[in-house]
Amino acid sequence: MSTPFTTMSPSTGGLGMGPRDPKLVPYASQRVAYWYFVSALALFTLQVIVGLWLAISYAFTIPQSVVDVLPFGMTRAMHTNLLVLWMLLGFMGGTYYLVPEEAEREIYSVKLAYFQLLAFLATGVAALVGFTFGWTQGRPLLEIPTPLDFIVVVGALIFLFNVAMTVIKGKKTAILGMLLGGLTFLALLYLFGMPFYRNLSIDWFYWWWVVHLWVEGAWELVTAAILAFVLIKITGVDRKVIEKYLYIETALFLFTGLAGTGHHYYWLGAPRAWLWIGGIFSAMEVLPIIAMVIDSFLTQRRHGIAINNKVVWTFALGTAVGHLVGAGVFGFAHTLPQINYYTHGSQITASHGHLAFFGAYALLNLTMFWYAMPRLRGISQFRSSAALWGFWIMCLSILGIGIAMGVAGVIQTYVERVMGEGFMTAQGYMQLWFKVVLFFGVIMLGGLILTFWNIMTGKQSKEQQ
Ligand code: HEM
Ligand code: HEM
Ligand SMILES: [Fe+2]
Repeated sequence: MSTPFTTMSPSTGGLGMGPRDPKLVPYASQRVAYWYFVSALALFTLQVIVGLWLAISYAFTIPQSVVDVLPFGMTRAMHTNLLVLWMLLGFMGGTYYLVPEEAEREIYSVKLAYFQLLAFLATGVAALVGFTFGWTQGRPLLEIPTPLDFIVVVGALIFLFNVAMTVIKGKKTAILGMLLGGLTFLALLYLFGMPFYRNLSIDWFYWWWVVHLWVEGAWELVTAAILAFVLIKITGVDRKVIEKYLYIETALFLFTGLAGTGHHYYWLGAPRAWLWIGGIFSAMEVLPIIAMVIDSFLTQRRHGIAINNKVVWTFALGTAVGHLVGAGVFGFAHTLPQINYYTHGSQITASHGHLAFFGAYALLNLTMFWYAMPRLRGISQFRSSAALWGFWIMCLSILGIGIAMGVAGVIQTYVERVMGEGFMTAQGYMQLWFKVVLFFGVIMLGGLILTFWNIMTGKQSKEQQ
């Protein structure tokens, strides 16, 4: 079934894509995902390169002339905005890849999908260039200035329209419902980060609606839907079983995650009740994460691993475990107000931020890339050894980064908040640990380049052609 807008012929390939094999990629329009994934991987690489500069800024005393050109605030904004951009592109690509297979029809408009990708990429470039000229809104993670926000909104509306039209005209599944719900929630929340409130407390209050409710709400829904799709494909588990857990875990995520926003309201001037609400509900956020990990291991027990997808399965399991370590354990560690009183805004926060974002969302995106990209490139059976090397190098090095930042954070908390010494005194004691962050960061970049290279150029395994 094709629409008047679907102009792509099944045989045309893109750079490195080759002709479509209908057994691997049933719908021609799924191929738009390819360019989303390539863009995401390129921006991810750039994000990590900028991350190395951040680590250098902490680990060494940089001459002022260099700091003037590459100030920390500017490069930090680049690092985190690149993160948000590549992950959103990854989610959108994943959506365009899975929607045709679920809805059993081509995407409503391939042209709109490409247009929207270009709009996001152009906004990203404008934002990065703008940062170098100091064009920023100043709110961490959402620094891009208001005029660019409007382009993001238009891009998001086109995306939602395109996906919704496909779903409305096609078959409806639980996965699609959850995906569309999560994406709509995600887009709506972005609007709360756009206005500027004169009262700083109110400004931060709504800023968290975007940052917290994204990663601990909307993104969890999108993740659950994408993971469910991949698991059904690679394990052959009955759709009903996967869907049942999808509903239970998601309900729990929403129940705890919404009120859990309170763990950011402790010290910004919100009413005292938030100390209780935030502490109790955010501590409960760990429950759905544990459920997800147990569920993944039970699935493996019951159904074994589909051997020809060892790579995808490793990444999927990694997502569950990474979620548990980064979001569950490292999040729980500082979520109670009694502890957060000391650790708030320290390197402990950065340690958790890295492990959670990588463990939950970088690995989720990579799971989808590893499922879809070989197929899009016409490969049924991938040689897996380099892919698994990439997985372990990246996971162990980000763990190294997280632990080193965590140690720096404990030192910072003790020297600054317990001993009452100044910020720079604490930095002196922490510097060594940023050298460790830099060391693992270089290894991380190596693992990422290996992964990127392998996804783009990996060959068909000779064993099962
Ligand atoms: C995958 C899900 C998660 C991601 C990606 C994530 C990421 C982040 C990031 C980037 C920050 C720093 C924000 C900033 O101040 O600029 C943060 C803060 C925080 N996160 Fe998470 N997080 C996740 C889940 C959780 C969970 C489940 C908990 C609790 C159990 C938690 C507890 C906290 C707390 C308490 C803070 C505030 C730290 C402070 O006061 O400085 N997070 N998170
Ligand atoms: C080479 C690897 C990397 C290095 C050396 C690095 C280093 C850094 C540094 C030094 C900061 C600033 C922390 C501060 O403000 O004090 C930062 C911020 C951040 N980075 Fe990275 N990074 C790397 C990779 C990544 C990856 C792979 C992710 C996510 C998947 C990530 C997510 C973040 C986030 C969310 C923040 C903001 C944290 C917060 O708000 O507390 N980084 N990074
Ligand atoms: Fe949060």
